[in-house]
Amino acid sequence: MNEQQTSPPTTTNISSLKTSIRKLLTTQNAVLVAHYYTDSNIQALTEETGGCIADSLEMARFGTTSTASTLIVCGVRFMGETAKILNPEKRILMPDLQATCSLDERCPSDEFAAFCKQYPNRTKVVYANTSAAVKAQADWVVTSGIALDIIKHLHSQNQKILWAPDRHLGSYIKHVTNADMLLWPGACVVHEEFKSLALKRLRKLHPQAAVLVHPESPASVITQADLVGSTTALIKAVATLPNPEFIVATEEGIFWKMSQIAPHKRLIPAPTAGDGATCESCGHCPWMAMNTLQNLEQTLQDGTGEIHIDSTIREQALKPIERMLAFSKSQ
Ligand code: 13P
Ligand code: SF4
Repeated sequence: MNEQQTSPPTTTNISSLKTSIRKLLTTQNAVLVAHYYTDSNIQALTEETGGCIADSLEMARFGTTSTASTLIVCGVRFMGETAKILNPEKRILMPDLQATCSLDERCPSDEFAAFCKQYPNRTKVVYANTSAAVKAQADWVVTSGIALDIIKHLHSQNQKILWAPDRHLGSYIKHVTNADMLLWPGACVVHEEFKSLALKRLRKLHPQAAVLVHPESPASVITQADLVGSTTALIKAVATLPNPEFIVATEEGIFWKMSQIAPHKRLIPAPTAGDGATCESCGHCPWMAMNTLQNLEQTLQDGTGEIHIDSTIREQALKPIERMLAFSKSQ
């Protein structure tokens, strides 16, 4: 992992970086497409310039409707690759191409191919947090926002499923739907650190709080949730549920949007410390943090960080992504 060693910008620097990026976006007919986990300055700038801040499903949809010729994807690598697969005619740039994801890293395409070979009669469903080469082998791509509905649909047709790579999301869906699913053993380093015993204690201290959990979290955390859902679903819950407090089990970048839409609600990060804690990430995705205003400006200035995908892989990966988007439209 190639973490940025630059010092945080001052308020004056932030303002001049934003001014420079705004100009570059206009002159290059470019738009920002950012995930809720990115730095709050990037999310604010995305909003101010008419870009898209969203979960991974909406980020994928946005690119296909935008008239911009360049999409600057602020997030992790699979998000940029999905944008390129769906929009091969557009230039797709990312502030740092090294921004990957533990789920993607732990599901190499050759090992996934060997896994698939063992179970040729199963429908291959892969989470969006995978490389283009893994998606190219799949029947369906899903994001957290649509995974449950797609598996319910496949289960209703008696299809047996081979699922990769997030074992927590997979076992949550398997539990809810009762579908026959074989699970790849991957996990998100951020969500895996939420601790169930410490969460139980925290809930006792905040009896009025609703517990919001992203389904990449372990089952012992998910079972304590009032709501399990994608980043978009968790944000909506803060605005719509009547609770004055929320304990939130997902990456802390999401608090910027949550506080913006529900400024009077108290947001409490779910605990990553406690029994058995190693707390390497402590609620922060190290790869999302690689998106900064400085390297965003840099990529617009010199065009570094462009996503390129082999055309055969791109064409194969397009099919399961388009299947997901068509399914989501039909809902
Ligand atoms: P969402 O699609 O819910 O935004 O999740 C993406 C992700 O990487 C969560 O860790
Ligand atoms: Fe991947 Fe987890 Fe980071 Fe999401 S939070 S991008 S799943 S490592």
